[in-house]
Amino acid sequence: MAAPISVLTKELRENPRLADIDVYIAQGGYKTVEKVLKSMTPEDIVNEVKNSGLKGRGGAGFATGMKWGLCAERFPLYLCVNGDESEPGSFKDRLLLEGNPHRVIEGMIITCFALKINLGYLYMRGEFFQIIDQMEACLKQTKAHGFLGKDILGTGFDLELYPQAGAGAYICGEETGLIESLEGNRPYPRLKPPFFPAAIGLWGQPTIVNNVETMAQVERILDMGAEAYKQIGSADSTGPRLFGMCGHVKKPGIYEYDSTVTIRELIYDVAGGIPGDRKLKGVIPGGISAPILTPLEIDVPAEFGAMGKIGTMGGTGGMIVMDETTSIVDALLNASSFARHESCGQCTPCREGVPWMNDILRRIKEGKGRSEDLELLLDICVQIHGRTVCVFGQAPGVWPVRTMIVKYWPEFKACIDQKRLVVLPVDESYLKPDQYEFVPPVPGNFRLKPEAVAAAGG
Ligand SMILES: Cc1cc2nc3c(=O)[nH]c(=O)nc-3n(C[C@H](O)[C@H](O)[C@H](O)COP(=O)(O)O)c2cc1C
Ligand code: SF4
Repeated sequence: MAAPISVLTKELRENPRLADIDVYIAQGGYKTVEKVLKSMTPEDIVNEVKNSGLKGRGGAGFATGMKWGLCAERFPLYLCVNGDESEPGSFKDRLLLEGNPHRVIEGMIITCFALKINLGYLYMRGEFFQIIDQMEACLKQTKAHGFLGKDILGTGFDLELYPQAGAGAYICGEETGLIESLEGNRPYPRLKPPFFPAAIGLWGQPTIVNNVETMAQVERILDMGAEAYKQIGSADSTGPRLFGMCGHVKKPGIYEYDSTVTIRELIYDVAGGIPGDRKLKGVIPGGISAPILTPLEIDVPAEFGAMGKIGTMGGTGGMIVMDETTSIVDALLNASSFARHESCGQCTPCREGVPWMNDILRRIKEGKGRSEDLELLLDICVQIHGRTVCVFGQAPGVWPVRTMIVKYWPEFKACIDQKRLVVLPVDESYLKPDQYEFVPPVPGNFRLKPEAVAAAGG
């Protein structure tokens, strides 16, 4: 099994007072900024990040160096760091913001220097009010120590960074919703393509949006060098990852491993297994939008590529583990209620389709399901998918619905047939992987094989 690592979390676990800049500096903090600003060119830094193979940690796993390379050189440019972290099951950015805020700030300074940015924002989930206060204090300390402001460390580089609190809307984590919110508008996401934030972003200017953990990873890459960083993990998924284990596990928490660790190892070895040694029913492997895996699908490494191949995604690394006592119908209703509540309402397929699916799921749970409901739900998924302004409509709108219904067809069917909420014995509740198929490349695009439907009673 992969061994635990502590590239991102070492100092954090050893010292609870890292928000104090003097403690952070005593542990080697801000040395990377000093080294980078005094001895590297912006191009050197971009090349180093490209060479590291870093994939963004905000959910989509987009290559950070490539994103930076797409940034138009039209001044001014802006950096927006995404600390909205509202995806259910995800809590790793909070750990970094709370436990090692200066590392995130260091990553932001390095990123801004690399991309010739003089103004950046750190957008944080509104409920993180203590963290936001602490971050404000940290940024003041950083400026007082000469790492922010005018002519940083005598290099001629100027930079201001500002914290910004959200107001509790999940859609503000979507990068263009975040930009709208920062501009003071209702956070309706923008249509992409044609224009991505790297071309037209905040105030109409080129903007890089990166996740909080991505910033911490940038600092690590520039400290240790891309070659050493690449030795961690695999060619597909380089560097350390933070996995948030929650739900039915004995030891919930954030664990740092490289991505070669399997989902089974994370559940049973790292998080201690399931309380009462009950059986596993399923695991959502990367925040609520990530398609669920049945117990027959967990011997897969937590790499972005390997997860994509089986129709799910690494996402935020936040894993929700569900044991045999869980009703998958109820779990899906829960996920769907979240999506219903958080849809911003801008586009019709999501605004109308997501609540419609939620209503159907509720009636199935209440024993009022109709024989045509599962087909109807799958059809609504088709009508929503790819027809919305932003990715929300499909994830978390469609992917959990389609994946759970296809994989756990027998349990949904039993609820409709028996007109009550049924929790089947776990081994009977889901289909075998050869009874459905994943149609790449979009996650969650699963189809039932007709013989499976027949075997499960139509
Ligand atoms: C509905 C929705 C919610 C999102 N929420 C977050 C979030 O809370 N934090 C985050 O970093 N990215 C979130 N994202 C992804 C961002 O749009 C963006 O891809 C990410 O911040 C880019 O950072 P990265 O390249 O460093 O991964 C969300 C995307 C969608 C569609
Ligand atoms: S898909 Fe949903 S969340 Fe995204 S813009 Fe449309 S209504 Fe808003």
